[in-house]
Amino acid sequence: MKNDILKNHFLHPYNVGIVENYDHKIIVKSDQCNDVITFTVTITHNTIDDIKFEAYGCGYAIAGASLVSDAVKGKDIDLGIRDVEEMLNTITIPDSNLRCIHLSLKAIKQLKDNLIAHGHTS
Ligand code: FES
Repeated sequence: MKNDILKNHFLHPYNVGIVENYDHKIIVKSDQCNDVITFTVTITHNTIDDIKFEAYGCGYAIAGASLVSDAVKGKDIDLGIRDVEEMLNTITIPDSNLRCIHLSLKAIKQLKDNLIAHGHTS
């Protein structure tokens, strides 16, 4: 793993575990390798108060889950998604591992869809 930001997230991941009394649980699974990441989240209105993850995946999947969870924590979910997208645009990620990193962004977008489906956000 050449990128220092990702390497640091992989070696010292943030937000590992399960949020106590979580409101939402999102499980994303890679279509290509069957790796799985589970996020648990507490939300007030549209703000992600707390978020943790458990990953059964490669180093990039773990780094991505750490980076994404850190970037969205404490933020309005739309702002968090925007910040993650901007951040990922600035990081050089090998093509073969893009899907590993984007698995966690997919999870946050899925969370947003769940909130919309339950009338919690617009
Ligand atoms: Fe499975 Fe990276 S190889 S998520």
